[in-house]
Amino acid sequence: MSLIKSKKRVVDHGEVFTPPWMVDAMLNLVKEETERIDSRFLEPACGSGNFLVRVLQRKLAAVQVKYGKSDFEKRHYALLAVMCIYGIELLDDNIDECRANLVEVLVEYLRLDDADDLYQAVSAVLAINLVHGDALKMETYDGKPITFAEWGYLGKGRFQRRDFRLDVLTGSSSFSAEGSLFAHLGKHEIFKPIRTYPPMTVRDLADAVGVSASEDTG
Ligand SMILES: C[S@@+](CC[C@H](N)C(=O)[O-])C[C@H]1O[C@@H](n2cnc3c(N)ncnc32)[C@H](O)[C@@H]1O
Repeated sequence: MSLIKSKKRVVDHGEVFTPPWMVDAMLNLVKEETERIDSRFLEPACGSGNFLVRVLQRKLAAVQVKYGKSDFEKRHYALLAVMCIYGIELLDDNIDECRANLVEVLVEYLRLDDADDLYQAVSAVLAINLVHGDALKMETYDGKPITFAEWGYLGKGRFQRRDFRLDVLTGSSSFSAEGSLFAHLGKHEIFKPIRTYPPMTVRDLADAVGVSASEDTG
């Protein structure tokens, strides 16, 4: 396995991929979190997903242990595992590969074909969670502020989604610092979603992710 694509890309973008043994050693430092289905991981320079793929594999192993006997639960919790994985990547070929690599992990685990609603839903979620953009500027490739969807599983096949701006999320520590004007505010007051969506099924996600948003009124 090559850890670089070209010398130019190494020089221009610091693009050197992490080998699997190192990925595993690093993830083992937070082993319990990697094995928790709904723990959230953000890789701000995700490349083609060497870390995120392995995180998803670990989460799916947990899905299999907990929900492997029920096809319904297995499919929904596998989707939740995907929903909790986030990435940002500057280069378009890398972000495309990253999305494809993660889809492939789920396709293999659930033996999905591309006509399956779940396949469409996973593709839609990954198009949202894996952002083509600049993590330092916190902007998408076309200059918009990066937002992330907070997904949750409500049970009975329904998911919720609320969107937040990354620059606000990353400001959390300064908001709560002693002496800050905002120190007295609760997190719910600082972290208002910019959008809240009605509960969605896998079918809804496959059809309409990103379409039926309503502005949150707080
Ligand atoms: C050292 S590689 C690591 C890739 C992956 N995390 C891995 O370990 O295999 C760094 C990656 O960050 C990307 N990158 C560089 N600057 C970035 C930025 N400002 N925002 C997002 N991604 C960036 C590069 O294109 C490259 O894919």
